Amino acid sequence: MLLVLKPDLEEVGREAARMVASAVRRNPAVRLGLATGSTTVGMYQELVRLHRQEALDFSRVLTFNLDEYLGLSADHPQSFAYFMRQHFFSHVNVPPANIHIPDGSIKGDYRQYCAAYEQSIREAGGIDLQILGIGRNGHIGFNEPTSSLGSRTRLKVLTQETIEDNHKFFAPGEEIPQCAITMGIGTILQARRILLLASGASKATAISNAIEGPVTASVTASALQLHPEVTFIVDRDAGAQLKQQAYYRRVLEMTVALTPERM
Ligand code: F6R
Repeated sequence: MLLVLKPDLEEVGREAARMVASAVRRNPAVRLGLATGSTTVGMYQELVRLHRQEALDFSRVLTFNLDEYLGLSADHPQSFAYFMRQHFFSHVNVPPANIHIPDGSIKGDYRQYCAAYEQSIREAGGIDLQILGIGRNGHIGFNEPTSSLGSRTRLKVLTQETIEDNHKFFAPGEEIPQCAITMGIGTILQARRILLLASGASKATAISNAIEGPVTASVTASALQLHPEVTFIVDRDAGAQLKQQAYYRRVLEMTVALTPERM
């Protein structure tokens, strides 16, 4: 596990974008797993800048988004599909055929739909680099506390805490989705490399539980301890409760010196 501590959200976004850009340059047909949420906005902004100003080319990149609200179609302003267009896809050259986002408007055979989403990831050859945010309750994707650590893409009922966190984004009186389609923890753990971004004091407990707590379905991000290639990029406030900060700093220095390709 690598921990990169940055002063603020802006620097978290810039560092994440640098790592994504270097993965794209190393393998122009890289398969990216993408997340939405306020923490990722700066990363997408910086990737758009790199595309425009430094010709970062996404024309062969394949993308798989983590999740989508059930009941929202891709043109709903609060859907993750809309978020992705607004912050990333309408500004870069990922071909539309290479973009995969769970369809929140599906009705009927959810199991079959979710199995097909898993199948499309497998057929593409798996995810090379998975981007994650983290919820206050330690969720990754929409894998709420008590999600099976072996779970695959499926419907998930959102906790009250997550619904309340999302409340502010919906118009007054508008119905807020109670469920989402999300990649599972098992799906996420199969990515070859994982980057988790976190910012702000409200994430400090989740980050310390995920990194220094026991592996438990009660904090689904703690399952990342089972993955051999995870990098956490967190700002000072989100990292404030970590006890081993000095050690993580030394690990990072040594990694830069001895195995810089991991950066
Ligand atoms: C979004 C997602 C969620 C968010 C998490 C943090 O695709 O999977 O797990 O990453 O809820 O959201 P923000 O960044 O808005 O605090």
